[in-house]
Amino acid sequence: MSKSDFKTRHSKLAEEIRRHDKAYYVEGTPTISDHAYDMLYRELLDLEKEHPEMVTPDSPSQRVGGAPLDGFESVRHAIPMKSLDNTYSPDEVRDFVKRVQKLLPEEELDWTVEPKVDGVAICLRYENGMLVAGITRGDGTTGDDVTENVKTIRGLPLKLQGNVPSVLELRGEVYMTRSGFAKLNDKREAEGEERFANARNATTGTLKQLDPKITAQRPLQAILYGLGQVQGDTPPTQQEFLDWLKSMGVKASERNWLCKTEDELISAIDELDQVRDGFDYETDGAVMKLNSVALRERCGSTSKAPRWAIAYKYAPEQAETVLKDITIQVGRTGALTPVAELEPVFLAGTTVKRATLHNEEDMRRKDVRIGDRVIIEKAGDIIPAVVKVTKEKRDGSEKEFVFPSKCPECQSEVTKDSTTGSGNVVIRCQNPDCPAQVRGRLEHYCHRGAMDIEGGGEVMVRQLVGAGLVLDVSELYKLKLDEVTALERMAEKSAQNFLDGIHASKSRELWRLIFGLGILHVGAGVAKALTRCFPDLDALMDANADQLNEQDEIGPVIAQSVSNWFADPFHRKLIERLRKAGLEFNSSLFNSGNEIGPFTGKTFVLTGTLPTLKRSEAAELIEARGGKASSSVSKKTHFVVAGEEAGSKLAKAEKLGVPVIDEAEFLKMCEESQ
Ligand code: IVH
Repeated sequence: MSKSDFKTRHSKLAEEIRRHDKAYYVEGTPTISDHAYDMLYRELLDLEKEHPEMVTPDSPSQRVGGAPLDGFESVRHAIPMKSLDNTYSPDEVRDFVKRVQKLLPEEELDWTVEPKVDGVAICLRYENGMLVAGITRGDGTTGDDVTENVKTIRGLPLKLQGNVPSVLELRGEVYMTRSGFAKLNDKREAEGEERFANARNATTGTLKQLDPKITAQRPLQAILYGLGQVQGDTPPTQQEFLDWLKSMGVKASERNWLCKTEDELISAIDELDQVRDGFDYETDGAVMKLNSVALRERCGSTSKAPRWAIAYKYAPEQAETVLKDITIQVGRTGALTPVAELEPVFLAGTTVKRATLHNEEDMRRKDVRIGDRVIIEKAGDIIPAVVKVTKEKRDGSEKEFVFPSKCPECQSEVTKDSTTGSGNVVIRCQNPDCPAQVRGRLEHYCHRGAMDIEGGGEVMVRQLVGAGLVLDVSELYKLKLDEVTALERMAEKSAQNFLDGIHASKSRELWRLIFGLGILHVGAGVAKALTRCFPDLDALMDANADQLNEQDEIGPVIAQSVSNWFADPFHRKLIERLRKAGLEFNSSLFNSGNEIGPFTGKTFVLTGTLPTLKRSEAAELIEARGGKASSSVSKKTHFVVAGEEAGSKLAKAEKLGVPVIDEAEFLKMCEESQ
């Protein structure tokens, strides 16, 4: 076939396949049989084999997934990906509307209500209509570049239809279809692999696959609902935006509501609750948003969430079942947690066999007995918990459970710890060498949120500890290939991947190491704060509780816990072993306080409509230079950036003598401070 014939036939075929993909994945109305589709697809592949040099980047064949990656690159979001505040009752919804109305006193407000898709947030960057990047939310500021994986999502256009802005970041959720998730889990079980706990975990795991060919086989989809950075025009309201998405070939939620009053909002939330079971994705709430983009700009955001939108969280689903037994689990901090062993029951998409009973006190309060019928729900939609006993169904055969006085794992003494800050007494095993604690610490260290060591899950850790190969995290770095392959049912490839993961963890960011050490009260957020305050691990180790407490982001309980941990000679030796293994001890997040940025210590207030910048973009420029964008003018304000129709804030600035600048001056300041 000549090159020009190829081009004509190829583009026709590609177009036809795209049309069918859209009909199937975006609109949910397939227009041809699977077989006919497969024939078209095969023809396309055959054609491309003849002229591989002419394959276009937006060809449907490009979704099968390219070569495996070594890891994911961290990318800074052009505009941070914020979260949403939550409401749980109609009264809280009314309060929210009143709050926004107070911010916009003169305006008549209308709202959209959309499903809150329980997926994984994603930012898709299109340049000149072509999908060029897919970045996960990460910590909101920086995410992972998962472009090769998102390209495999068949319902996502590699090229947008129509005339679109030259830069267009679309934001939404990637999810796994309910039907696809059930099939995937069945397949995994049949192949002896662990089932995913829920569709969201399966989606996260799939997006983090280093081999896009595996991702390509998983039933991922995406629903888009928002914008990131844009160069060009976008619709003035959310309603029009959602229609616009569809016109570009992008999937938006199949139902949304436009509401004018609080009552309408509450009815829409109820209606959505009635229909959401019929969607092929999990939802955990409704999202209410101001319809007008211009009004949103005037509301602004807090550091966590926009003020113009809020989520309504539906009550978690519940199920009733029989509590067959109670067992005790020993965690990495030695805490003994009672676990309910249940008659398997289907709940919110998965079969539940075990649920937490939290702690002894909680169990007593609920008067839980073996043989009881209990109500369970998924707390935070992930960990199932026993919420209540249906006592009226008791027949007298139920047995009280006696909480053990010794650790069931190592038979050491247990003590009651009431210093947890949660108000609950925790019963703890005091033996740091307790195998359950050792396993827990290792699993935590390897976890994706900490040192992210692939393959270091429960099964591997149990085997390593069982074989006496690893007793603390530093010993991971001494493992040899033959030791790992000698473990039961361990293929050489998995063993090598695990060792590669351990090696790669040596250069992880310091906060991951600090979090991974499992210091009491030190979550990922605190670990990051610590690495912002101290240049390296040695400086952190040498700080006493008072010096730690002096840091802005660190409170007294954390300060004490951190200094106690590092004062323990056993932990000091552990750190020395990690140093010898070659781990990264320097903090890339460290801010010395005067080097953060040219605007550090400077507070700006933005008011009125600026000629070219959106308020959020101006705030971005300020924050990127270490400054703060505040919403109210005070004596402490350094500059007010005023645009057209600036009102009371401008007046207040003039009254207080705060310098007022316009956009041009502001941009000049930004430029000079590059
Ligand atoms: S709007 C500035 N709309 O829920 C953030 N978020 O719990 C604006 N989510 O961070 C988000 N469905 O990842 C929005 N229809 C929807 C959503 C949605 C799911 C996620 C999103 C958000 C999280 C907050």
